[in-house]
Amino acid sequence: MEIKPNIPVVYVENLKDFSGKRVQIRGWVYNSRSSGSILFILVRDGTGIVQTVSTKNSLDPEKFELAKRLTQESSIVIWGLVRDDPRAPGGYEIELEDLELVHMAQDYPITPKEHGVAFLMEHRHLWLRSSRQNAILRIRATVIKACRDFLDEQGFLLVDAPILTPAAVEGTTTLFPVDYFGEQAYLSQSGQLYNEAACMAFGRVYCFGPAFRAEKSATRRHLAELWMLEPEAAFYTFEDNLKLQEELVSYVVQTVLEKRQRELQTLKRDIALLKRVTPPFPRITYDQALELLREKGIPLDWGEDFGAPHENAICTSFEKPVFVTHFPAKCKAFYMKPDPDRPEVTLSADLLAPEGYGEIIGGSERIDSLELLEQKLKENNLPKAPYRWYLDLRRYGSVPHSGFGMGIERTVSWICGLEHIRESIPFPRLLEKMYP
Ligand code: 4AD
Ligand code: MG
Repeated sequence: MEIKPNIPVVYVENLKDFSGKRVQIRGWVYNSRSSGSILFILVRDGTGIVQTVSTKNSLDPEKFELAKRLTQESSIVIWGLVRDDPRAPGGYEIELEDLELVHMAQDYPITPKEHGVAFLMEHRHLWLRSSRQNAILRIRATVIKACRDFLDEQGFLLVDAPILTPAAVEGTTTLFPVDYFGEQAYLSQSGQLYNEAACMAFGRVYCFGPAFRAEKSATRRHLAELWMLEPEAAFYTFEDNLKLQEELVSYVVQTVLEKRQRELQTLKRDIALLKRVTPPFPRITYDQALELLREKGIPLDWGEDFGAPHENAICTSFEKPVFVTHFPAKCKAFYMKPDPDRPEVTLSADLLAPEGYGEIIGGSERIDSLELLEQKLKENNLPKAPYRWYLDLRRYGSVPHSGFGMGIERTVSWICGLEHIRESIPFPRLLEKMYP
């Protein structure tokens, strides 16, 4: 690729600093059209899309002929003059002065016409180049950064949890087994148990990484591989835990509103609904939720966990994310601390996002008594051996502690207003779908 010493290489997102100047941009042909003797090529470089204008006068005839022949997604280097143009996407236009072809793409399969979801999923490696996917995945990156910034700022320490694990955290039905040098291991469902050890060492910690669930049902909310943010804090009560959640979620949403306006616009997201996301969040108990469900005509037996229609009915009754607290012990995980005033329910909460998005966070205070934890393992038919170290945490200076797990993809789906979780992660792993 040619270098012109006096012309800087610039990214489209930074064009505002180069108005009236000559720049070089390296990217791909997003689309092109001609009107009489003027050729408009939309060039994308990953950070944005800019419209270029070429005429027989601005480009030499050979380059003009080449420009006319460029196909969708051909890679190019361009040089030209940046002009303010409020009508152009992004507000700038480049008058093309020189052009170099890097690679001519042939028959790019995703054309500007509408394609079915199955076709797009089959071409996910190329679909990522579309401006909609670009907007979603940029918002995802901002969500992750905001989560980490928020916790780092508060003094939580990042402590990574292992992926290969000997034991279940969230029930045995969704485990992915792996052979670990002849021993039975599983891909991690959650870093929580290791976080509990880490918080006894560092006070307040979090892990951020992939979690795996062999979910046997195909829904618009379930992935087999998801990313989870999991804070855990020693001496945190149930109440402290909820406060941390509402502050974190509010910070994340407000940060996206501030930093990703353009992307939210690309997605046509109604931002008025997101602006409301500030603490405090409403709370209802599981029992109150059952009452609400009865009124709405979808009754549920006490002790049953919510399905999608139940979550949907609850979360659409509130304008902000809503906490459902005090779930029955029998529908939740073994490690959740029973409410001392009412041991059949736990000091747990799910946070349900509005507009029908449902659960984005699950969390609780944890059992800190050795005896009770041993009893719960037994009741849940879990073998004691793989949890020996976990029980140790209740042997040596056990303290009340709490934590939660926030699903990144569920959160991104909600913030972006997506219909299906598959678009919220670069390469979704779904039931019977692992390609590409
Ligand atoms: O409610 P879950 O199962 O909680 C835990 O794993 C706890 N051990 C976390 C903790 O307390 N440290 O999962 C937490 C969140 C859910 O609220 C949801 O957002 C997301 O992880 N999640 C999924 N997202 C997409 N696909 C799936 N199959 C998911 N399973 C859970
Ligand atoms: Mg849950």
